[in-house]
Amino acid sequence: MIADLETAKRNVSRRGFLDIDIDPTLDLFAEIEQLKKEKNAVLLAHYYQEPDIQDVADYIGDSLGLAQEAAKTNASVIVFAGVHFMAETAKILNPHKKVLLPDLNAGCSLSDSCPPPEFARFKAEHPDHLVISYINCSAGIKALSDIICTSSNAKLIVDSLPKDQKIIFAPDKNLGGYINKMTGRNMLLWDGACMVHEIFSLEKIIRLKEQHPEAKIIAHPECEEPLLKVADFIGSTTQLLKYVETDAAQAFIVATETGILHQMQKNAPQKTLIPAPPDNNCACNDCPHMKLNTLEKLYLCMKYETPEIQMEEQLRLAAKKPIDRMLELSAQLGL
Ligand code: 13P
Ligand code: SF4
Repeated sequence: MIADLETAKRNVSRRGFLDIDIDPTLDLFAEIEQLKKEKNAVLLAHYYQEPDIQDVADYIGDSLGLAQEAAKTNASVIVFAGVHFMAETAKILNPHKKVLLPDLNAGCSLSDSCPPPEFARFKAEHPDHLVISYINCSAGIKALSDIICTSSNAKLIVDSLPKDQKIIFAPDKNLGGYINKMTGRNMLLWDGACMVHEIFSLEKIIRLKEQHPEAKIIAHPECEEPLLKVADFIGSTTQLLKYVETDAAQAFIVATETGILHQMQKNAPQKTLIPAPPDNNCACNDCPHMKLNTLEKLYLCMKYETPEIQMEEQLRLAAKKPIDRMLELSAQLGL
């Protein structure tokens, strides 16, 4: 078993996760709670994680909440149940802490749509523009940015800048287009998108609305403009969750990743939640990257403290500046 463990550890950099068998009689929830205590570890999870992971997390949130939580934690180890750019952000903010991600393959199509060398060329063509990047990007893109934003603070951050300030917004063209519309700006948009939020079928959603006229359509701003146009409410995952909890409507057609339905159902059990249908034959809309993390991989990464996020110091320092600016602005804006 030890020999297998040592081989599996050596293979982590190639496989992306620790691939060993787990005793099937173990209560993984209890084990994870115990490991948190033993290692002084905090478990941060995004709403798109599978329900079991959300249930064992210390904090569940949207990208802004997770970054704020990572910035203030006193824990020695941060276990990030989310995707790579989220864990990377936690590492940028905590160079001396161990930051673990259950599966290093948990990437993001949006982040991948913006490679740093190409973006650096685009930026060089517009030297008089300030760069605002959505947090869903690599450390390399963050290092080329002036301010980071998330879906919950993008509008306020853009509004806080002088009206005549020229801006490049990367990498999400849908969020950027939505913010342009909300603020009356004409930011230059990088042509990136999230595979999960672009897959919804407007036609099926409209049919669904006809069958449930009482249901409100709620959507994440990473969705395409025609869908955003028919939405009753648009917001980050935390904002969508709060809306379901507080709005008088009893039914909602939810246009974002299905993981969020778990918290919506828990926090508003009397409400009807209908996942918006994608443009394929599947009934659900899961992010394949987020769903690479499992309770088993989470347990193993906590127990053996691998895979761990590593970062070169010069890149970390350059990527930290625009994140710090976002955190400062968010605090000033009361977010
Ligand atoms: P938020 O949780 O910040 O709204 O982001 C959604 C998302 O797509 C994360 O990958
Ligand atoms: Fe990236 Fe979209 Fe998955 Fe979020 S839901 S991690 S933006 S691919």
